[in-house]
Amino acid sequence: MPRRSKISVIGAGNVGATAAHWAASKELGDVVLLDIAEGMPQGKGLDLLQAGPVETFDARIKGTNDYADTAGSDVVIITAGLPRKPGMSRDDLLSANMKIVGACAAGAAKASPEAILIIVSNPLDAMCHVALEASGFPSQRVVGMAGILDTARYRAFLGEALNMSVKDIQALVLGGHGDTMVPLISSTAISGIPITELLPKDKLDAIVERTRKGGGEIVALLKTGSAYYAPSAASVQMAEAILKDQRRILPCAALCRGEFGIKELYCGVPVLLGRNGVEKIIEVPLTADEKKALDHSAAAVKELVDAMAKLKAAG
Ligand code: NAI
Ligand code: 2OP
Repeated sequence: MPRRSKISVIGAGNVGATAAHWAASKELGDVVLLDIAEGMPQGKGLDLLQAGPVETFDARIKGTNDYADTAGSDVVIITAGLPRKPGMSRDDLLSANMKIVGACAAGAAKASPEAILIIVSNPLDAMCHVALEASGFPSQRVVGMAGILDTARYRAFLGEALNMSVKDIQALVLGGHGDTMVPLISSTAISGIPITELLPKDKLDAIVERTRKGGGEIVALLKTGSAYYAPSAASVQMAEAILKDQRRILPCAALCRGEFGIKELYCGVPVLLGRNGVEKIIEVPLTADEKKALDHSAAAVKELVDAMAKLKAAG
């Protein structure tokens, strides 16, 4: 009998619980929701299970505080950690979240040694390094979610400005998940028509800037946390690509080993995502300005990775 896929979501807060919701409603497999808070993941898990008969999805859903319940997961989505509050950058989360993500990645890897880890916790690119080290997994099986979210924001703003369907907008946002991210205008098209044919430069520049600050815009509005509908949907799109071996090309944080001139660093790049995780990083042509911006963004990620090494050395 074919085995159902198993997806574990570590951190049952806003992003984690909503990811569990998307995964169950898409019937991607059985879902385990783990958190350190006692009772909360169990309560959310039970509530989501009871939505099944209404929304007509079949999925076993379990909330837990114990990694034993996550054993044998095919995909583990790590969303545990602190979210941003107004005035905080993603980087302010570094010291707290590196400890949390390290513990979660180690616990998840021990219970599910063959799983693919999708990292969501911020600062995203740096947390991928933490998860890579703590899990001991090959880099192919540790991949970060940010580029799909950043690209979705860019596509949503473009769709609004053009008054056209977001379905026809193809785009890529690369680089680290921060204000230095790089929306690629040269790769942006509406059903193959270059965006520069449809929007004037000043409008396009304003959309690029709004995309870069897209997470902060929502933090300022929510005041008590950060975005979660689009981030969780993006994480589940990655899980689906992996579980169904869709071999989609999606912008994800992957360990670059020379691609785009970036060495031994997680950064947002176009990834061929399939059953083995990061099957390949696809290099796309960049203009000179885009290459410069990507180098700058990778340098910002490197600064965080170096800062983590100092924090670790200081104990
Ligand atoms: P949240 O505060 O709603 O949920 C976080 C959950 O993690 C809480 O329920 C907390 O109890 C749990 N947690 C803390 N330590 C834990 C541990 N050691 N083990 C298990 N669970 C633990 O936060 P939210 O909004 O869900 O965001 C989660 C993380 O995702 C944040 O770091 C946020 O910045 C990041 N994020 C990243 C995005 C991206 O594009 N990569 C987008 C949106 C959020
Ligand atoms: C976002 O971009 C906070 O990283 C999160 O919404």
